[in-house]
Amino acid sequence: MTQITAPQFTARKGAAEKLVVLTAYDYTTAQLIDEAGVDAILIGDSLGMVVQGRGSTLGVTLDQMIYHAEMVGRAVTKALTVVDLPFPINHYDTGAAIDAAARILKETGCQSVKLEGGEAQADTIHALVTAGIPVMAHVGLRPQSVHQLGGYKVQRDEQRLLADARAASEAGAYGMVIECVPSEIAKSITAAVPIPTIGIGAGPDCDGQVLVIHDVLGMTTGYVPRFVRSYAKVGETIKEATAAFAKDVRGGEFPGPSEAFK
Ligand code: KIV
Repeated sequence: MTQITAPQFTARKGAAEKLVVLTAYDYTTAQLIDEAGVDAILIGDSLGMVVQGRGSTLGVTLDQMIYHAEMVGRAVTKALTVVDLPFPINHYDTGAAIDAAARILKETGCQSVKLEGGEAQADTIHALVTAGIPVMAHVGLRPQSVHQLGGYKVQRDEQRLLADARAASEAGAYGMVIECVPSEIAKSITAAVPIPTIGIGAGPDCDGQVLVIHDVLGMTTGYVPRFVRSYAKVGETIKEATAAFAKDVRGGEFPGPSEAFK
C-alpha cells in the first residue's frame, strides 16, 4: 500500500467516512498508529507541551520539529504526514517559510506542512504551494498566538473565521484544522470551503477529527480539555507497571532464572 497523498486527502472532502488524524512524535508510536489505520499523522508542535513539558508551543524550534518528524517519517508507510511550522516562521517573509518547509520535507521524508493562520498567511500558503509544498492551514484557536488571543479560548468571530478559512483555501491549502470553534460555525466553514476541515474542539460536522495522541491514550498529566475523549488509561498502566517492576527488583524477584544467562 502506498502512502496517502495530499491530493487524495483533499479528494475525501465531504465523504461519508470521516478523516481520522492523530499526532505522533516518535518512531514507535507513529508505527503503531499507522498500522492501526489513520488517514494522516500530524507531527504537531503540541510536542512542546506533551513531550517537552512546556506551558505553550512557543518554545519549539525548527530543529526540534525536524528531529521528531524524521523519526515519524521513517515509521509511517500508509498515512499522510503533516509537520507543523513552529512559531514564528510563517510570519517572516515567504522565503523564510519556503526555506523552513523545504528543510522539513528534505530532512524528514514527511509530505506536507501545517501552519497556523488564514487570511494573514494567504501569501505564505500560496508561496509554499507554488514551491510544491502541500500546506494544511489551521484556523480558529491558534495556540502560537495564545498571548495575543488572551488564552486558550473558544473562537467565536464567525466572519473572521470564515474569511480565514476561505483565504487559506483560495491560497491553495489542501486541508485545514479548525480548533476550538462552536460546532455551528465549524459546520458553516465546512460547507463554505472545498477542502477537508479537520476539527479539534469544533463539533461533529467537520470532514474529520484530530486529537493529540497523549490525550487519546490517557497519558496527559494535568489539565485535559473538554473536547478530548480518552480511549485508554496508558498513564495508569505506566505507573502500575513501574510500581510492579520496582517491587520485583526491591524484593529480589527480578531477574529470575529465565531472565539471566548461564
Ligand atoms: O500541534 C498540534 O498537535 C496541533 C493539533 C492539536 C491540531 O496543532
